[in-house]
Amino acid sequence: NTYVLIMAGGVGSRFWPKSRNHFPKQFIDILGIGKSLLQLTYERFLNICSNEQIFILTNETYADLVVEQLPAVLKPNILLEPSRNNTAPCIAYAIYKIGQLNPEANIVVAPSDHLILKEKVFLNKVEQALDFSSKHDALLTLGITPTRPDTGYGYIQYQESDSKSQAEIKKVSAFMEKPILTKAEEYLKSGDYVWNAGIFIWSVRSLKKAFEQYAPEIATLFESGLPFYNSPDEIKFISQNYPLSPNISIDYAILEKADNVYTIPADIGWSDLGTWASLHAVGEKDAANNMVNLDKINLKETSNCIIHLPKDKAAVIRGLENYIIVDDGEVLLIYPKSDEQEIKQVAKDMVAQH
Ligand code: GDD
Ligand code: MG
Repeated sequence: NTYVLIMAGGVGSRFWPKSRNHFPKQFIDILGIGKSLLQLTYERFLNICSNEQIFILTNETYADLVVEQLPAVLKPNILLEPSRNNTAPCIAYAIYKIGQLNPEANIVVAPSDHLILKEKVFLNKVEQALDFSSKHDALLTLGITPTRPDTGYGYIQYQESDSKSQAEIKKVSAFMEKPILTKAEEYLKSGDYVWNAGIFIWSVRSLKKAFEQYAPEIATLFESGLPFYNSPDEIKFISQNYPLSPNISIDYAILEKADNVYTIPADIGWSDLGTWASLHAVGEKDAANNMVNLDKINLKETSNCIIHLPKDKAAVIRGLENYIIVDDGEVLLIYPKSDEQEIKQVAKDMVAQH
């Protein structure tokens, strides 16, 4: 009964200019190992269920990219969205469709753009979560021990286990999506918070119930598609109705509100690779802590930088500390690492101006 939904429709705008609207970061070989983050995610989940049970949720503009990068995925398992409405509607679409095929379905929802170094531990935690969600009305998320007051994540406050849960599965008392910095600092200090890894485990039954209770508009919309899913009329229904959904992430729509959220703290070597600095944190660095992607480079008095240039370029850099220097051939970005959360807005402004 296990299914995996890989969400691959985001734009990754904090990774601009490398990540673009027409080629977002999940499709990029960002680690330089010959595979994109999406391909790595897909391969990881082949350990959890069969290829037939893996679905890719993405925007219709990325259909060709998905087929090219994941030729083994069944065509009917690639769900295409006609508009960008964030993660709540794409998950709702998938669970109403899959629920129609199999009401007992137990589901893992995962982002397509994360790094997970400890794969064995990861698979083990997911199995444990699946076992729990098949037996209880529970919404589970993997929790990551926070290391900095990052405002780009969801923060989860947990209690020790309640009667239902095993020791490793904690009842969540509060979920705060993307708090302001002072709050994030407070949570980090208090010690009983974990980050939401954005990897969710729940049964179709529990999640439908949560949508009905906390996001009834989305529930009604996708429930009205039941006569059309898995039939030739599905595409028409989706193209007409999907854009009508509220534009909201699953975190704000459900997880902040529900009272049956659980977390499994998991030390899985996780990085969301959401920003240049997060890539810098896990990547290979030289003695001065620079992460550089080319050989023909002469660095002086330069440290803690991310330097990502076209492979055929030569470069000389002197006197930069804590900077992001990225040239993707079309756009050159030189930006202080400390302000990298602004890059999302910078990218938007550039697209608007040009
Ligand atoms: N199919 C589809 N459609 N996928 C989408 C869409 C969409 O409209 N929007 C985003 N995605 C995909 C992204 O490609 C990514 O793989 C995943 O959904 C999560 O979206 P992000 O936009 O990357 O979310 P976030 O990083 O800001 O926040 C989420 O992840 C954090 C951990 O990385 C939240 O769940 C946070 O609570 C969490 O801490
Ligand atoms: Mg993300």
